[in-house]
Amino acid sequence: MKRSKIAGIGYYVPERIVTNDELTKVMDTTDEWIQERTGIRERHYGVKHEETTSSMAAAAARIACERAGIAPEEIDFIVFATLSPDYYFPGCGVLVQRELGITHKEVGALDIRNQCSGFIYALSIADQFVKTGMYKNVLVVGSEMHSMGLDFSTRGRNVTVIFGDGAGAAIIQPTDEPEQGILTTKLHSDGTYAEKLAFINPGAHGGYHFKKLGEQVDFGYPPPDTYGEIFITPKMISDGNYYPNMEGQFVFKLAVQKFPEVIHEALNEAGLKTSDINMLIPHQANLRISQFVQRILGLRDDQVWNNIQRYGNTTAASVPIALCEAWEAGKIKEGDLVCLAAFGSGFTWGSALIRW
Ligand code: ACO
Repeated sequence: MKRSKIAGIGYYVPERIVTNDELTKVMDTTDEWIQERTGIRERHYGVKHEETTSSMAAAAARIACERAGIAPEEIDFIVFATLSPDYYFPGCGVLVQRELGITHKEVGALDIRNQCSGFIYALSIADQFVKTGMYKNVLVVGSEMHSMGLDFSTRGRNVTVIFGDGAGAAIIQPTDEPEQGILTTKLHSDGTYAEKLAFINPGAHGGYHFKKLGEQVDFGYPPPDTYGEIFITPKMISDGNYYPNMEGQFVFKLAVQKFPEVIHEALNEAGLKTSDINMLIPHQANLRISQFVQRILGLRDDQVWNNIQRYGNTTAASVPIALCEAWEAGKIKEGDLVCLAAFGSGFTWGSALIRW
């Protein structure tokens, strides 16, 4: 079987920079609190009504295509990862296809919902398609427009200050070089704590999971024999119960355990050690998480790329943005061992080892 490789990579972040100080004007928070807990100084927000998750993805995809030496028309298949889609349905895959002007071609588009680990899941899917010879040019995208769906009141401050907008994309192609390409990908999930980091409403759950978990939550549903008003109720709106929520410390503790686990798993399979890693690109969840993981793995500063300080957490976009930045900065060279790793809502987590 052939190997697949990242043939081109690109990223796009909106122009507008929002500093921590700017957020203090709308909610009770401070630059000091945000930097101390998360490392974040600023993030980028898209222009409302002018930019979307799929339009940012298209901008990143055009750069990736150019660097891979292909025209968008040559894309065979799209894998799109996001938790902040333009529409509830259809997914962003077909929208980026339209943005790229390739609707005349028979291109398949797959949307995946794996939050922070979305890009690694997408890369793994593309890897399987390319290795088996089914496709030659797979576009893999992670893109998020968080700023449209966050609670900018003090109630939402623990979540809102963390997230930013942006997109990253890669073109996955087969390679004939025996030493080059994606060596392995590892994917995991555990739904036990699905609600610990979640965007619950609107949704079709009808309170089901909460009843099973023994939690009494009044979503304002009509009686069980009445249809409608389940997906979103007036009470959800009046309570402001339609934003993401997160039990931060719970997420933190699990993240610092799963990141090293899944990195070791990939290294073991490839017969490699942490000292062989030239560049670790961790999902930019929180600078403190990345620093913790770096310490556990015993990596030097020059072996880990962090950019959350400037972009915040861009969820599915964070790994490709960081990977692209590190490559543009000349920190990833041919033959280098690159490790991607992510952990996030679900919980889902994964890693990828790439010989560049
Ligand atoms: N500004 C000021 N004060 C705040 C803010 C804010 N933005 N947010 C919360 N606080 C307050 C809380 O209200 C609380 O006040 P209290 O003690 O009076 O009740 C206090 O700060 C401490 O709150 P905690 O939630 O316990 O703060 P913590 O130290 O855990 O930091 C944080 C919160 C940064 C979210 C941290 O838990 C964390 O990073 N967790 C990991 C989760 C993560 O990285 N998520 C990213 C998305 S998921 C992913 O990508 C993996």
